[in-house]
Amino acid sequence: MQDRQSIINKINSLKKERNAVILAHCYARDEVQDIADFVGDSLGLSQEAVDQDAEVIVFCGVSFMAESAFILSPEKTVLMPDADADCPMAAMVDVISLRKLKAQHPDAMVVCYVNTRADIKAECDICCTSANAVEVVNSLDSDKVIFVPDKNLAAYVAKHTDKTIIPWNGYCPTHNQILAEDVDLAMNKHPGAELMAHPECRSEVLEKADHVFSTTGMLDHVKSSDNNEFIVSTEQGILHQLETENPNKKFYPVSKFTFCPDMKMIDLSSVLRCLENMETVVTVPKDIQVRAKRALDRMLEVKR
Ligand code: 13P
Ligand code: SF4
Repeated sequence: MQDRQSIINKINSLKKERNAVILAHCYARDEVQDIADFVGDSLGLSQEAVDQDAEVIVFCGVSFMAESAFILSPEKTVLMPDADADCPMAAMVDVISLRKLKAQHPDAMVVCYVNTRADIKAECDICCTSANAVEVVNSLDSDKVIFVPDKNLAAYVAKHTDKTIIPWNGYCPTHNQILAEDVDLAMNKHPGAELMAHPECRSEVLEKADHVFSTTGMLDHVKSSDNNEFIVSTEQGILHQLETENPNKKFYPVSKFTFCPDMKMIDLSSVLRCLENMETVVTVPKDIQVRAKRALDRMLEVKR
């Protein structure tokens, strides 16, 4: 077995050789976040995939993120160190069922959360992330909006817009299992702490939160907050960035179950193998790529 530093050295020299850049979501393993050139939320990572000059993007997240990078920059080689890392919520909507729903509401526009597969993005008018979902919905001409696949994010958006939201019945298993009781217990244990929650959480959790933010929103807020203690109601991988950027502040996961197994599949050895073998290459069929890009480009025009 190679020691960690020699793996990191090899990754760094292969990165130069291949003209590659490593992008990691802030739910990735700590050691993967540490070797990444950019760590961020889904929106930041999409923007970074467009802005980077590198020929190769190594994506340390789940497959919809790597697919989005390819859709936005098809001239680049997009690699995933472990192509099995997938988002279960992205698998909760399929094209045939979505087309049926669209046929029932021909006057509605369709917004899809980026946590979807490329063929779903190709069916939609515009994408959104957790950082810009309300702005995206409000930017549309239609008063009626089909929102797929996250029912919790859809409910959050519905509370912050005058438009009629038609939700899908999907959810993130990691965020959806955070219960109001978990929040109450954490708040009793840390009475001075602010509660930050991700909008993939259930409404009853969001109602108790001081702030509802995407992951980057949480990172930005903590840096500028006078408070020193925070209960974090999202996947616990984010604690690494929070603690690194704010060594004098304290962070408590809302419960011990806030763990996304898919986000932890990629480790340093798989990043090294990926750069050595240039595998696994992520692509999307051309017709889907072109239609999905339209939905992602429209979102990037709206931004946060
Ligand atoms: P953000 O990166 O938009 O905060 O989303 C969280 C998430 O669940 C990504 O898988
Ligand atoms: Fe999907 Fe939830 Fe994991 Fe994000 S945290 S990748 S939404 S299952």
